[in-house]
Amino acid sequence: DTGMFTYDPGYTSTASCTSQITFIDGTKGELRYRGIPIEELATEHCYLETCYLLLKGMLPSKESLQDFDLELRHRAFLHEGLTKLFNAFPDNAHPMATLSAAVTALASFYDDHLNVSNEEEYQEMARRLIAKIPTIAAFAYRHSLGIPFIQPDIDLSFTKNFLTMMRAYPGGKMHLGPKGHEEIKEVEVRALDTIFTLHADHEQNASTTVVRGVASTGAHPYVAISSGISALWGRAHGGANESVIAQLEMIGSVENVKKYIAKAKDPNDPFRLMGFGHRVYKNFDPRAKILKTLQDELKEELHLDSRLMEIAGEIEEIALSDEYFISRNLYPNIDFYTGIILTALKIPKTMFTPIFVIGRTVGWITQWIEFKKDPTSKIARPRQLYTGE
Ligand code: SDX
Repeated sequence: DTGMFTYDPGYTSTASCTSQITFIDGTKGELRYRGIPIEELATEHCYLETCYLLLKGMLPSKESLQDFDLELRHRAFLHEGLTKLFNAFPDNAHPMATLSAAVTALASFYDDHLNVSNEEEYQEMARRLIAKIPTIAAFAYRHSLGIPFIQPDIDLSFTKNFLTMMRAYPGGKMHLGPKGHEEIKEVEVRALDTIFTLHADHEQNASTTVVRGVASTGAHPYVAISSGISALWGRAHGGANESVIAQLEMIGSVENVKKYIAKAKDPNDPFRLMGFGHRVYKNFDPRAKILKTLQDELKEELHLDSRLMEIAGEIEEIALSDEYFISRNLYPNIDFYTGIILTALKIPKTMFTPIFVIGRTVGWITQWIEFKKDPTSKIARPRQLYTGE
């Protein structure tokens, strides 16, 4: 037992650490940020309130929220020197590659690793990352289209700013339709804001464990976050949301669902149902339940793709009554539902995992700060069970 990792022959090595940030009960399907149920945060609060709660341990007053919002708006801009990095990538570069590289490059513009050692500097660094990562993600997307970057608009809220940077034409004008410029609707902002909240933190998942591992070596905090971005990209983790939509499109019709369910159950077939199963939840992922309700609420207003919804509904209905899935406690997870809503927000699937990054950055940096402030924390150094000669 190295204090951070323990080896239990019954399981793979499990990272064990103490934390006061997020609580998950995988059996009951419960999730709480700083003691507040995710259901309350997703329906009664905005993403910035959740960020403040994670970072400061309490929900903000109206004034503190206003100050926090302004602090982020002023930090959302990118240094002109950093924008040159995007042009080094080919147009077809996956935005996750660009995002990870740009966050690492951000470390060259701020020497936080030299002097970040007290609460004020931790909070400054957190605001900088939370504010800049949506701009970096939007720049990566605009580079992939070969269109000029748009710096954030200081008059727009966090989530509306991101949607604007994703959608606006050069000069900031929105799409011109027969009835004039198609401005971003408040219902779209609310939907994406809820998705950010649901992704904000999730205890010691794979990418957070990586962030804590890099934090333990004393490397620059931004490369710890960049390592988390890289780990999240995997389709077994955050990359699943992009794979879910690709899989629904591949299945193509309700009639084909049974064939793919059979493939998912076949031990000799590597095919897995993306968006199903979880290392911790052996019940419904509470975030998936919230998204399913949101999907039903937004179906008409956002013109969600009914064909994809029908296929997803058929998968869920068959899988949840099938012995293979029931006996293995395989339920839909957060990734199963996000893609249909994001598609309706005109966000392409290559940007789904960057959206996960934008939501999760606050969780990663909160976990990084907690690790740094823990006087008992040590360098990550898991041991092995040697099975060689
Ligand atoms: C996220 O950890 C977190 O908190 C992550 C996350 C977060 O917020 O940070 O919640 C985000 O990563 C959600 C998960 C997104 N990934 C996917 O949806 C990819 C599809 N899911 C699977 O790859 C899988 O379920 C995992 C990776 C999520 C979990 O994999 P495990 O730990 O190997 O699953 P398990 O041990 O529970 O598997 C038990 C059995 C195995 O079969 P048997 O060997 O018993 O016969 O269930 C099978 C698995 O083969 N199984 C599946 C399956 N998931 C598990 N079979 C078909 N389809 C699936 N999706």
